Amino acid sequence: MKVVVLGAAGGIGQALSLLLKTQLPAGSELALYDVAPVVPGVAVDLSHIPTDVKVTGHGKDELETALSGATIVLIPAGVPRKPGMDRSDLFNINAGIVRNLVDAIADTCPSACIGIITNPVNTTVAIAAEALKAKGVYDKNKLFGVTTLDVIRSETFVAELKGLNAANVHVPVIGGHSGTTILPLLSQVEGVSFSDEEVASLTHRIQNAGTEVVEAKAGGGSATLSMGQAAARFCLSLVAAIKGDNVVEYTYVQVDDSADAAFFAHPVRLGPNGVEEILPYGELSEYEQKAKDDMLDGLRKDIQLGVDFVNA
Ligand SMILES: NC(=O)c1ccc[n+]([C@@H]2O[C@H](COP(=O)([O-])OP(=O)(O)OC[C@H]3O[C@@H](n4cnc5c(N)ncnc54)[C@H](O)[C@@H]3O)[C@@H](O)[C@H]2O)c1
Repeated sequence: MKVVVLGAAGGIGQALSLLLKTQLPAGSELALYDVAPVVPGVAVDLSHIPTDVKVTGHGKDELETALSGATIVLIPAGVPRKPGMDRSDLFNINAGIVRNLVDAIADTCPSACIGIITNPVNTTVAIAAEALKAKGVYDKNKLFGVTTLDVIRSETFVAELKGLNAANVHVPVIGGHSGTTILPLLSQVEGVSFSDEEVASLTHRIQNAGTEVVEAKAGGGSATLSMGQAAARFCLSLVAAIKGDNVVEYTYVQVDDSADAAFFAHPVRLGPNGVEEILPYGELSEYEQKAKDDMLDGLRKDIQLGVDFVNA
């Protein structure tokens, strides 16, 4: 099992790499790539932690070496949000970064599973799909937008509000990964009920939780530690599935013949080849149905932006 982190010297990249160094199965390889010159140092630093996970660091001219033989590639490379920016403002810079990195994946390790973290995820996943198609190596079952942060935030906020242990709270989150496209299905949280006011305020908090962090960091970036944890959870689920475990995660994937959008976060059964089965998200409350109807147009436009970016 070889896991590669592209953008490994950044805030998310370092937190994620630390969690993977301590939690990947024994015998795994962890390759760290970044254009920042500190990346070999990050790898040396992590290599002093006594686990049976081999860490290597690769600077900007070593992308191919980093990617060679990869099973899973995670991409948090890019620039984060500053106060006043929304995820779409990141588009111009991050779109090009994702395109170039995915082109290299297509050339070097086309059968790897790819997890896109770089925002705006609604669009960067479509860019990755189009880039892989242009190289003739697209496998829709192996491309994921990592939306796990929306899930762990929802679990935390529901547990806080209801005085529960967050470890026992499970909240489905469907849709996209930006503002109102993030749709937590609070009507499906087992054993918990919410007033209409609670549903409205919790949904709003979950959809704007990224901004909560951006403002609290006051110009110092966006969520890195919670995102590192979310990406590690997603990656470790994928690793477990590749090894044969039965695992379901919510993630943003291509959904054929969807009445919603070409890419949509669903519950997905993972398996040795990535997506094993896209599961239905079940019945929505009236509130959730309206929220979904209202956001679909925006989500579809975000996806089209990615398609046009590659094909223009
Ligand atoms: N999916 C999510 O839920 C989620 C949550 C938070 C942040 N993000 C996104 O993740 C991205 C990274 O955030 P961060 O806080 O870690 O930013 P950061 O600035 O701390 O780190 C980004 C890293 O990417 C590197 N980089 C830039 N261009 C590169 C390239 N071409 N190849 C390899 N590495 C490159 C930089 O050198 C830097 O080390 C941002 O786009 C951010 O918006 C996603």
